[in-house]
Amino acid sequence: MLRSKVAGLGKYVPERVVTNEELTRYMDTSDEWIRERTGIRERRWVEPGDGNTTATMGAKAARQALERAGMEPADIDFIVFATLSPDYIFPGSGVLVQKLLDMPTVGALDVRNQCSGFVYATAVADQFIRTGMYKNVLVIGSEVQSTGLDVSTRGRAVSVIFGDGAGAMVLTATDEDRGFLAHSLHSEGKYAEELIVKYPSSNFPSQKYFEHLQQNPDDTSHFPYMNGNFVFKHAVIRFQEAIMEVLQQAGLTPADIDLLVPHQANLRISQFVQKQLGLRDDQVVNNIQKYGNTTAASIPIALTEAWEEGRIKDGDHVVLAAFGSGFTWGANLLKW
Ligand code: UT7
Repeated sequence: MLRSKVAGLGKYVPERVVTNEELTRYMDTSDEWIRERTGIRERRWVEPGDGNTTATMGAKAARQALERAGMEPADIDFIVFATLSPDYIFPGSGVLVQKLLDMPTVGALDVRNQCSGFVYATAVADQFIRTGMYKNVLVIGSEVQSTGLDVSTRGRAVSVIFGDGAGAMVLTATDEDRGFLAHSLHSEGKYAEELIVKYPSSNFPSQKYFEHLQQNPDDTSHFPYMNGNFVFKHAVIRFQEAIMEVLQQAGLTPADIDLLVPHQANLRISQFVQKQLGLRDDQVVNNIQKYGNTTAASIPIALTEAWEEGRIKDGDHVVLAAFGSGFTWGANLLKW
């Protein structure tokens, strides 16, 4: 039976560190509020002239993942790129990575599932490998969110949370008794507007929206809007449901989890889920303290760091899980 296993992991974050203290210069907030409510101490933001875009950071993470997999870009058969902050409205960032890595004309697919983008992208990549269509698939999650945030008191409930960065994973086909065992993917579109960037869009194209903004300078529909409490309440439930679903598919229980890599949305969400599942601190990866919430990039960055720190060994059951805008949520279970 064909499965896909992780052949290599990589990450890249911009050099610029933005502390909570720095944010107090731009808005009415405090280190204490941010740490207590979210766990975040600092995040990375791109800066003008550093050459970092969603695609270039994705390419850097991908190079590291390929190197660790002992592969060349030409060994990759397909790219799945998850982001909510593509370099262009179109084309997607997957084709830009293909260009940056000078890859042959392999297919590139962008996944638009926000915080759960990497979980969805992983499930998609795994299906291509399981069917035998592709052998090596490059999965990337990358985000530049800082350039689209309202970095003023008006936008503080959202802008203190988000960070920039990228992570990548090379999946390869195996007939060994390991690799991805189960996936759970869900969405609930009735809550699409609870976590959203509305405009500019096909409903309200740029030119029309810019004219509208001149007359209505207080409209913030081009910045992310999040109904924070509402999202939080759904997240803590959906995370657990998705994790339980993949465990059940594989005939396992929470006690069988060796490492949970949750999307880094909010430390309080991860701690709540950890408690509900009865997991110890060493069974859950938390690095939101250093990077903030990097949306589709958070899981591959956290997974890469956990692997670099030697927290994953052969045969371990690792669970990736996420919840976010859409609402969309899901989980992937793998035996390392
Ligand atoms: O990534 C996937 C999806 N996202 C999530 O999963 C995030 C889910 N939600 C959250 O993490 C939390 O809801 C937040 C961290 C966003 C907000 O925390 P909260 O405990 O829900 O705070 P709140 O929105 O209820 O705001 C509490 C107070 C308000 O003041 P009043 O009305 O009580 O006077 C806010 O105006 O805190 C105020 N506030 C702030 N104060 C200082 C909001 N943002 C800030 C801030 N600094 N940055």
